[in-house]
Amino acid sequence: MDDPTVYLNGTFLPLSQAKVSVLDRGFLFGDGIYEVLFYHRGKPIAAADHIARLKHSLNEVGIAYPDVDLLAISNELIAKQQLSDAKVYWQITRGAEAVRYHVPKPDTKPTIFIMAEYEKPVDIDAGPAAVKAITLPDLRWHRCDIKSLLLLPNCMAKMQAKQAGCAEAILHRDGVVTEGTSTSLLIVKDGKLVTHPANHWILGGITRLNLIAIAKEHDIDVCEATFTVEDMMAADEVMLGGTTTLVAGVTHVDNTPINDGQVGPITRQLFQWYFA
Ligand code: PDD
Repeated sequence: MDDPTVYLNGTFLPLSQAKVSVLDRGFLFGDGIYEVLFYHRGKPIAAADHIARLKHSLNEVGIAYPDVDLLAISNELIAKQQLSDAKVYWQITRGAEAVRYHVPKPDTKPTIFIMAEYEKPVDIDAGPAAVKAITLPDLRWHRCDIKSLLLLPNCMAKMQAKQAGCAEAILHRDGVVTEGTSTSLLIVKDGKLVTHPANHWILGGITRLNLIAIAKEHDIDVCEATFTVEDMMAADEVMLGGTTTLVAGVTHVDNTPINDGQVGPITRQLFQWYFA
């Protein structure tokens, strides 16, 4: 669809007509929060978890949860565009003000923007994507648990990955692996699934959460603990999890193969169980 319908501040309108003020704090300060949901066969995956995380993010930065049904609006956008597999983007900024000043006025009305975008239907039989990654220092702030619009370090790292012919940059703080620029990072070592604890150094990924739950259901040991780049390079499997990435196997990191350089069996299993 060339000019899809989107939602902006109470109105459904064509994307080309959706405009916000240049004094919007999202534009000036990155003062806002977002969420990305995946719709599979017209239905959202883990919607309640996304709403809970949005509430957490908004609460942490002091923006009120909007008095609109984000999910109903999203469903309507999906229906209007007759989408099956799609990603839906929610963005709530603190809103537009009359002047540029760091401290917001208490009565500033948040800007609410929602759009749905086509995604190629997931081919479950094809299994998880095989991707390559590079490692880079994690230059982000100390509140990565907040899904804020401040994505400059993520974008810079992802651009570097792309330049290196890779799909993702795996970030680390002084050698401790945190996550990808837009994905959670999980490794498998001796049959155990290991991933960074959900604290302020990573985004509490919804896919990560679901993969942990699915693994436990299938009696795979899960350990939420930190690990180093060295540990990752020596892992049996490395995988990425994310709303749009779904589950992907990392075959090479910094041009070095992980194990035999193939997507591992637990990554494949988790991908299948995720859609089961
Ligand atoms: N990114 N870590 C970061 C830094 C992320 O930005 C994301 C999601 C994830 C995975 O979280 P989830 O499973 O909840 O999608 C981890 C979204 C998709 C994005 O920025 O487009």
